[in-house]
Amino acid sequence: MLAMLILGIESSCDETAVAIVEDGVTILSSTIASTKDIFSSAGGVVPEDAARRQVEFILPVLHATLAEAKILPKDIDVIAVTRGPGLLGSLLVGTVTARTLSALWKKPLIGVHHTFGHLSSIWLHAESTPEFPSITLSASGGHTDLWYRTAHTNGKLLGSTRDDASGEAFDKGASMLGLPYPGGPSIAASAESGDEHTFALPIALSGEDTLDFSFSGLKTAFKNTIKDQKLKDNDPQLQSNLAASYQFAICGQLVDRIKRACKQYPEAKEVHLVGGVSANTRLRELVRHALPNTVVRTPESIRYCTDNAAMIAAAGYFMHQEKEGSALEEFETSATLPLDAFIS
Ligand code: KG4
Ligand code: ZN
Repeated sequence: MLAMLILGIESSCDETAVAIVEDGVTILSSTIASTKDIFSSAGGVVPEDAARRQVEFILPVLHATLAEAKILPKDIDVIAVTRGPGLLGSLLVGTVTARTLSALWKKPLIGVHHTFGHLSSIWLHAESTPEFPSITLSASGGHTDLWYRTAHTNGKLLGSTRDDASGEAFDKGASMLGLPYPGGPSIAASAESGDEHTFALPIALSGEDTLDFSFSGLKTAFKNTIKDQKLKDNDPQLQSNLAASYQFAICGQLVDRIKRACKQYPEAKEVHLVGGVSANTRLRELVRHALPNTVVRTPESIRYCTDNAAMIAAAGYFMHQEKEGSALEEFETSATLPLDAFIS
């Protein structure tokens, strides 16, 4: 069978990314222009600025990706683009570009749900082929979901956050500590020299029979703890202890729900951790420690945990293979752009 080349485009937030992926697993090239450093002192993304940067970067990133893979437009089989959710202005840059290329190059276009992209990231350059059924945690700045997956395009959403996403909790916590955006890597770095048992922070919903998440109470508890400690700039050890305790509480909740899901679905063969938060080393350690007899997979590289276009291309490939030309309603987790507008 001939290999299928998918051009993926991701522009849902502050990364402008284009990738070319063969058969959903082999990355021929993947380019990411990130504007995170621009927003690091602002404490978060400014939507209008992010959209402006997307306009600036999209064509240079596209050209660089085609050149690196030594691929001509005629060699591309399908174009896949993130259709949402995300920042509307940023998303429009990617979707308009994809629709234009699709019309110009006469290639079919697939609209991919951003979360489905993250779920597919486990397959990129995986050492061995991942297996279903899986329990998958998808945790990022915009969502925190737990899935029971039986195929790429078949799954059941077991639980979601009832308020903030876990990545957002990292971002807000970092800002409270005076650490730069994005908060996940900043907190993780500060936590390395801290003691995670210094402050006991709450694990939300641990008394409830649920696979949902909640982080807003933890954020408030953290804010109060910082206030009580009268954190000063010149006490890096206290800052590290706070960061470590906060990281431990976020990860603790994620691990607790994964463990419950594995108990409820003993037929699950593997646990997958995806999304920006899956880059967290402590989370990986805690999950592996809690489930010593389970195959726990994370994306092959940290680059594929956070937003990238290779995962969108991979997702487009799996959608094409399993559900050619049709929508993916079961992966809808929130209101987004109309899917039909982006499928031809
Ligand atoms: O998947 P992603 O790149 O974008 C969204 O879909 O939101 O995830 C970004 C989120 C941010 O909130 C960031 O703080 C978090 O992932 N993140 C981390 C780490 N690296 C990124 N959280 C914890 N530990 C990390 N090492
Ligand atoms: Zn993401």
